[in-house]
Amino acid sequence: MTHAPSRRPARPVHPVRSGALPAHLHARAAALAALRGVFDAGTPLDAGLAGRPEWAAMDVRDRAFARALAAAVIRQPGALDAAVGAMLDRPLPDTALRARLALRCGAAELLILSTPPHAAVDAWVELMGASPESAGFRKLSNAVLRRVAEKGAAVFNRADPLGDLPDWLAARWSEAWGPNAARAMAAARSGPPPLDLTARHEADPARIAAEIGGKVLPTGTIRREAIGLVEDIAGYPGGDWWVQDAAAALPARLLNVRRGETVADLCAAPGGKTLQLAATGADVTAVELNARRLKRVEANLARARLSARLVAADAADWRPDAPLDAVLLDAPCTATGTLRRRPDAAWSKREEDVRSLARIQARLLDAAFAMLKPGGRLVFCTCSLEREEGEDHIPAFLFRTPGAALDPVGPEEFPGLADAIAPEGWVRTRPDMWADAGGLDGFFIARIVRTA
Ligand SMILES: C[S@@+](CC[C@H](N)C(=O)[O-])C[C@H]1O[C@@H](n2cnc3c(N)ncnc32)[C@H](O)[C@@H]1O
Repeated sequence: MTHAPSRRPARPVHPVRSGALPAHLHARAAALAALRGVFDAGTPLDAGLAGRPEWAAMDVRDRAFARALAAAVIRQPGALDAAVGAMLDRPLPDTALRARLALRCGAAELLILSTPPHAAVDAWVELMGASPESAGFRKLSNAVLRRVAEKGAAVFNRADPLGDLPDWLAARWSEAWGPNAARAMAAARSGPPPLDLTARHEADPARIAAEIGGKVLPTGTIRREAIGLVEDIAGYPGGDWWVQDAAAALPARLLNVRRGETVADLCAAPGGKTLQLAATGADVTAVELNARRLKRVEANLARARLSARLVAADAADWRPDAPLDAVLLDAPCTATGTLRRRPDAAWSKREEDVRSLARIQARLLDAAFAMLKPGGRLVFCTCSLEREEGEDHIPAFLFRTPGAALDPVGPEEFPGLADAIAPEGWVRTRPDMWADAGGLDGFFIARIVRTA
């Protein structure tokens, strides 16, 4: 349970306040404003929160509460609307944007964060009255939120998880994967995911898991509950492990890199896969377009006491000095497979992005293959659940590329995840896989060899 900020002190509440809000409302006001940025403009949640004037004055606890509240709303806006809607005598007018979002927030506190009803209702009624835009709904919000507290849970728990996604994404997933799978994938992002760690090559995952209170998944990833600061977990300063979703750790493993081989990691930042490759003792070059993000690869390598050559360049234009043994291409994508970890990203993407990113991916795939020596291996992956950014690439690429062949992934390479191997021999992970153990991100992964 997340702790709400303390209750407001006893003092008169004015229906419409002018000037600054009282401090006890800062966290909720920041969450409300950041949520408007997420839903209306696709602004990332963290940027929206940090941009709020009240943010600087908020303590760690209030910031954590604001983040948790906003994330809860972003994960389940449809279910929250259903619970609120069921308690309204008539729908709110379309123009009541602030009031609608404030009711969502109040409902999230009551139904997800377990804030005591009196504290949640009082705070949101006060916030409703704090802006001329929503002050007219102050009385209504009091009645509605009380009803939500009493009997909203039944409606909330029955709501269709597909209603928590932007409409275009829900329609796409239903068409691509079928309504039941789409529903399960949407449900998998309705709560916060566990923390996944990849151990350094020579480190012992079982020892680390025992030390930090986690467990080792069949693929070797260490998983534990995501509580507290990552920096405070044993082994962080010495770089014994790094944060990486269990699915994100698979592409580098499937490349089967050996000590001394020449390898390029294309589109490398923040560097989780670079670290995996460098830890094998291979001669690794990390190529990243964004020089600022490349600094993060550098910092992550330093913490893990690993090394790689760092190149700030467009991977579509960069060429190695000599043909390579192996290339890993983790191409830029819509990242719809990572909504468990970044639920706000669903609102920063548009359907057109799928097509434009697929074009960039095809160009990068051609460039990556051209870097290989005969016999060389390429692993191509994206963290998208859209087929145009995964499955659809491979037949088209093989058709247009002489000397390219798919190297099918075998079940023996994939302990506990055989379901993820498609009949074609590529890998498709989905958020609803390993559902009982906390799920995993959605990735498409294909391994290709250069035969000549
Ligand atoms: C999915 S992220 C990569 C994650 C990374 N491989 C990891 O495991 O930590 C995609 C990265 O590709 C970079 N990028 C986008 N277009 C690129 C290009 N044409 N050449 C090189 N990097 C690019 C982005 O800046 C972003 O850092």
